Amino acid sequence: MDVTLSCIPSGAFQLKIAITGKGGVGKTTFSGLLARLYAAEGNKVLAVDADPDANLASALGISAEAAAQARPLAEQADLIEERTGSRPGAPGGLFTINPKVDDIPDAFSISHEGVRLLVMGKSKEAAAGCYCPEHVLLRRLISHLILRSNEVVILDMEAGIEHLTRGTASGVDAFIVVVEPGQRSLQTARHVEHLAKGLGIKEVFVVGNKIQRDSDKAFIEQHLAGMKVIGFMSYAAETVQADLDGRSPYDASPAAVTEARAIKAKLDDMLTSRKKQHSV
Ligand SMILES: Nc1ncnc2c1ncn2[C@@H]1O[C@H](COP(=O)(O)OP(=O)(O)O)[C@@H](O)[C@H]1O
Ligand SMILES: [Mg+2]
Repeated sequence: MDVTLSCIPSGAFQLKIAITGKGGVGKTTFSGLLARLYAAEGNKVLAVDADPDANLASALGISAEAAAQARPLAEQADLIEERTGSRPGAPGGLFTINPKVDDIPDAFSISHEGVRLLVMGKSKEAAAGCYCPEHVLLRRLISHLILRSNEVVILDMEAGIEHLTRGTASGVDAFIVVVEPGQRSLQTARHVEHLAKGLGIKEVFVVGNKIQRDSDKAFIEQHLAGMKVIGFMSYAAETVQADLDGRSPYDASPAAVTEARAIKAKLDDMLTSRKKQHSV
């Protein structure tokens, strides 16, 4: 049984986690599991789909019809114009750099099994690297979410964290880098570790996913020596099937839930002992 947080009153727990890693390693799958696990304990949970290629809804168990209600914020031109004074794509517009965002999480999220989902969406201008009103709105919103109290916020990031600024990231309790047995995702983990230091992130943890044999664990631990590997998730046919069926691994893969629960307990432990160390 996971006893780490059982004495914490419902809704009072506060935690801000960003899930990162190479594309396809299982960030969204793990984000969905973690969000559902925190919610099942009675915590107030906000899951943020910060990947422009948004698909966290199905990993949370939200049906495609319900997910359609969570319109990606970056695509809501009226909202962006109302808040920033400028419409996305409008040439040369002036816009405010501190738009009001505090009502957005409640107004634009959808709820499922105790998890609220907010979808950031894709900015058309992002590819051009422009400084546009939708970026300002989303960046300010993320900063706001990270500083909100009494809430577990889980950010399912796009591959890479280059778009995070120091200001945005500094309130995050921990980054979790999901890796799989293979050189490429491990390189990404090292890269994230490096960037995280520069951003002032307090902790970077690693979760090894899609493990098929013990040597996979050793491979990850050996290549990421010095990083904190907090657990492993087995390669699971049920997880693949859940994705094929558009179901949440939380609902479809009991073995994955058990493994994710153990990782969550470790995470809670590490962060609790860190907070204790810093309060003495
Ligand atoms: N432990 C696992 N076992 C088997 N398949 C997995 C596992 N974790 C993730 N997957 C599958 O890998 C694919 C990519 O996972 P996803 O969570 O979308 O990755 P990311 O968000 O990092 O791009 C999905 O089809 C998912 O079902
Ligand atoms: Mg993803």
